[in-house]
Amino acid sequence: MPEIFKPAPISLIPPHGGGLIDRVLKGAARDEALALARTFPAITLNEWETSDVELIGVGAVSPLRGFMTAVEFESVVEQMHLPNGLPWTIPVTVSVPDEQASSIKEGGKVALKDEGGLILASLHVESKYRHDKAREARMVYGTEDMTHPGVAALHQKNGWLLGGEIDVVNLPSHDDFPDERLTPAQMRAEFLRRGWRRTVAFQTRNPLHRAHEYMTKVALEITDGLLLHPLMGKTKDDDVSPELRMKTYKVMAENYYPSDRVIIGVNPAAMRYAGPREAVFHAIIRKNYGCTHFIVGRDHAGVGNYYGSFDAHHIFDYFDPLAIDITPLFFDYTFYCRKTGGMASAKTSPGGPEDRVTLSGTKVREMLRAGQMPPPEFTRPEVARILIEGMARGA
Ligand code: ADX
Ligand code: MG
Repeated sequence: MPEIFKPAPISLIPPHGGGLIDRVLKGAARDEALALARTFPAITLNEWETSDVELIGVGAVSPLRGFMTAVEFESVVEQMHLPNGLPWTIPVTVSVPDEQASSIKEGGKVALKDEGGLILASLHVESKYRHDKAREARMVYGTEDMTHPGVAALHQKNGWLLGGEIDVVNLPSHDDFPDERLTPAQMRAEFLRRGWRRTVAFQTRNPLHRAHEYMTKVALEITDGLLLHPLMGKTKDDDVSPELRMKTYKVMAENYYPSDRVIIGVNPAAMRYAGPREAVFHAIIRKNYGCTHFIVGRDHAGVGNYYGSFDAHHIFDYFDPLAIDITPLFFDYTFYCRKTGGMASAKTSPGGPEDRVTLSGTKVREMLRAGQMPPPEFTRPEVARILIEGMARGA
């Protein structure tokens, strides 16, 4: 048989910037670094910053080796690229209160602690700069409105930022979903083991409804596997809890997908609600996890009416597709169409708005809280039952 008729060995998509970063120290190196870190001035991180330590540590935000310096911050906010020319849309920063900032010098070291006092990492302070929150809000989130949850979270950060490489001595601890917390390196190994050359990632912060199911299945038709990769870091208070969401992902994977085509993984990132810029950030993170394709639907990572429904599609055109490398799969608004008797979008059904089974997020939540099943064309009954039961006990 000619060579070209045989399957070639699998090579996974390279991480952003070429190499997977690993800033997590192990063994004696870790013990030494921890002992030293105890002697450094300590900064207490909030939940968002703590999850960023994890993203940097495990290489989910490769090529970042630490928190952004003033030069990197400037370049990302103004140019949507790192100083070396790689696309990058969202600042990854750690903050320090004014009263502590004065005693921290560039060239020094600090220990980064979580809210429980656990030392997570040491930071080599290369850069100390005032956080221009209004400009970041305007440029990255597209608004200075304090009722935008991402802008509100930005303002909860302290007034100064520290940039530089980190060495992680303790990854943030989690007591939920131990089996789903695969790191980028572990996920890549799993794709190789399964023989997946092309893997599509799906980002979500919601329970899976029929529209989500449809998009993932359309994508699965042209790829080898699906990474269902819910974001499980900090989200706004009225989003459905991680516990309930995970139950819906599992019941969907068990009942509606072939088991050898889906992996459920946890993306430990905090939600920024930064719409288009966050869509690119989400795509790059999934590339680092080894995915070749990434679903971007309607109002990706959006909130309220801050972004146009398809701004998160358009932003990809500002970048060199080869530099982004992971292939975005853009979806129009999808819904169940009564006229054609299936899931569709305006691109694939001749039906009009009156033929569509659609519900607003607010309306679905109202129904579920009242113990009412949404139509099966909108939500699978197994998912609806989990949400109704969970909401009834306040989960
Ligand atoms: S979020 O992180 O993007 O806010 P969400 O769970 O709301 O998470 O959406 C997950 C993905 O599905 C996003 O890419 C979003 O654009 C897409 N999406 C959700 N609902 C629809 C829909 N009805 N039609 C098209 N895309 C959708
Ligand atoms: Mg959404």
